[in-house]
Amino acid sequence: MNMNEQIIRIFLDHPNQYISGEKLSEELNCSRTAIWKHIQALKKKGYIFESTPRLGYRILKTPPDPLNVNRLSSELNTQCMGLNIKYVQEVGSTQTMAAEMVKMGAKEGTVIIAEQQTDGRGRLGRKWFSPPGTGIWMSMILKPQIPLQFIHQLTLLISVAVCRVIKRFLELDAEVGIKWPNDIYINGKKVCGILLESSAEDERVKHVIAGIGISVNLQQNDIPEELKEKMTSLSIEAGIECDREQLLISLFKEMEELYLLYLSEGFAPIRILWEALSICLHCPIQVHTHQGIVKGKAYGMDEMGALMIIDEEGNEHKIYSGDVSLSLV
Ligand code: BTN
Repeated sequence: MNMNEQIIRIFLDHPNQYISGEKLSEELNCSRTAIWKHIQALKKKGYIFESTPRLGYRILKTPPDPLNVNRLSSELNTQCMGLNIKYVQEVGSTQTMAAEMVKMGAKEGTVIIAEQQTDGRGRLGRKWFSPPGTGIWMSMILKPQIPLQFIHQLTLLISVAVCRVIKRFLELDAEVGIKWPNDIYINGKKVCGILLESSAEDERVKHVIAGIGISVNLQQNDIPEELKEKMTSLSIEAGIECDREQLLISLFKEMEELYLLYLSEGFAPIRILWEALSICLHCPIQVHTHQGIVKGKAYGMDEMGALMIIDEEGNEHKIYSGDVSLSLV
């Protein structure tokens, strides 16, 4: 047992009791400064301590159970997606780790899953909040034989897969849908974001790294104040703790089915599914694009995956990338 594990063992053997830094340092034969440093490291891993002058520390909360990768792999029945899983406790970003694994020859369907990301990234250079043990923070390596101009369709495909799985999983009447292009919302708050990074040669895709972040078991008090209005988790919406292994199994299955459908029949069936799940069609929206802001109503998705908007003057626009704000969201 390393020092952190020994400290935790002592606290778990004395539930609800205060233990002084002095007692811990005597028992573990180290300085009180060393104990303090270990307590700080444990806090970063998700342990919550109360510290009271003269009494010492008391453990209030232990971090959630780690993902059971053996159970996940043994119950998985896909041909490719998730067959090779690299599971890590902590990483800067699973996207960066996946890019390194691509260089080392990782196969299609390889997945990197982290319990915690210290430098998780989102679209448009934003940061992605990825606290320990409560989410699905993963990157999947895909190697589709498609022209680079179709890459955006894969983002839409993944948003459809995640949205369908979440809808089935929650089994409630919550409004679960996709905000263009690929954010999953429940009752007006974001629960999942998707980030695609790719490389290409001669205008053809070489590989894609599909980053998926789902807030699964976060509770209200885990969410930073500045995000409270904007984000939610499956657990907050469902009122129960969600089984992350089961969620991943369903997700890999759904992604594989839609990916194979896409490779054999093209984007048309994905487009129909996306439109059915969209929460931004037929309502007033604003899209921030590189060219400026477009205000109007989205009325569909074209055959390439562009959002079709009719603006307030009646002009039609096709948008491939940007950020949507809706009056409802
Ligand atoms: C967004 O909505 O802005 C996209 C968020 C994508 C987050 C995921 S979490 C796993 C993967 N690793 C990252 O650093 N980002 C993606």
